[in-house]
Amino acid sequence: MCPGSFDPATKGHIDIVERTARLYDEVIVAVLVNPSKAGLFTPEERISMLRECLVACPNIRVTSFDGLLVDFCRSNGAEVVVKGLRAVSDFDYELQMAQMNHGLAGVETLFIATNPLYSFLSSSLIKDVAKWGGDVSDHVPDIIGAKLADRLDDRGRAML
Ligand code: PNS
Repeated sequence: MCPGSFDPATKGHIDIVERTARLYDEVIVAVLVNPSKAGLFTPEERISMLRECLVACPNIRVTSFDGLLVDFCRSNGAEVVVKGLRAVSDFDYELQMAQMNHGLAGVETLFIATNPLYSFLSSSLIKDVAKWGGDVSDHVPDIIGAKLADRLDDRGRAML
């Protein structure tokens, strides 16, 4: 299970998911639906973008979930959550979640070291750079860069 907000997915996310797909027979990319936090993209848009980016990987399924991640893991028979670790700053929060998920349901978490090319990337940073007209083409797949540009044009830069 590769869970996340993916608002939007970065090249760092895609790299982790593709590497996970080399380790496991089947991978579920699970987009969190969080009604209390409106994103730039709807969950359906995030799923559609992820599917386009991952179309070449037949063992990856992209879907959404709400509620507890461990419940979603259980209902899908997933025993392992895979997360990317970008830097030490990720570790505290990720460790807390990994320990909680293990305590709640015995779900294990596997950490993959982020490719150093992407270690400074985050979806919020990408949105902030794009909002001010910065070039994010090295950091997000082309499909997502185009949707980001469309969305900023649709809403006007002040909307972000
Ligand atoms: O991309 P993100 O926002 O860092 O992903 C965080 C995510 C979705 C993995 C985490 O918030 C999550 O699992 N949320 C579902 C609710 C849940 O299970 N919370 C308890 C986590 S210990």
